Amino acid sequence: MELMEAIRARRSYRGPFAPTPIPREDLRELLEAGALAPSGCNLQTTRLIGVDDPALVKKLAEIYGKSWALTAPAAILLVTRETPSPSGVSYHVHDYSAAAENILLAITAKGYASVWIEGQIRGGPDREMGRLLGVPDDMTVAVYLPVGIPAGETPAAKKQPFGERAWFNGYGK
Ligand SMILES: Cc1cc2nc3c(=O)[nH]c(=O)nc-3n(C[C@H](O)[C@H](O)[C@H](O)COP(=O)(O)O)c2cc1C
Repeated sequence: MELMEAIRARRSYRGPFAPTPIPREDLRELLEAGALAPSGCNLQTTRLIGVDDPALVKKLAEIYGKSWALTAPAAILLVTRETPSPSGVSYHVHDYSAAAENILLAITAKGYASVWIEGQIRGGPDREMGRLLGVPDDMTVAVYLPVGIPAGETPAAKKQPFGERAWFNGYGK
């Protein structure tokens, strides 16, 4: 799939998945898409965990607590910690966000679907997921991406009109 096509086709998918496993090579490439993302001062603060062990995938979905996620054949977790750059600013949130979008576009290009789950795991499920996967105590599971072939519809989120958000040569022009 051409890149702009994948950008236009990507949607947050929160429905059932086909019971088709994700080949390890595909999962590895999705992780690679995340690892190749830009990062502040090239500090590469994001750690990426691909999960295809069915018992672990199921346990992650149980921790998340949504029945549709239980049908996902795989998951990807983005793990981070605050990491001050030489200027003192930590870009770790920007870093894992860039990784997440790279992965979501690669997921779309390969015909899979997912959704960026962050808000719903913060403050509890994130720690439980981290314990399950042996994530060091000083690191946080920031993003959980259930991945698989979608078996349902993917409604498009309503986007603001392009012309009200993007301009040439000045704000609002
Ligand atoms: C930082 C961030 C956190 C998000 N957290 C969640 C979440 O916890 N659960 C969820 O279902 N979707 C989550 N989303 C997905 C958004 O709800 C979704 O991107 C938005 O509604 C637009 O839909 P689209 O992705 O189909 O364009 C998150 C997205 C971002 C960027």
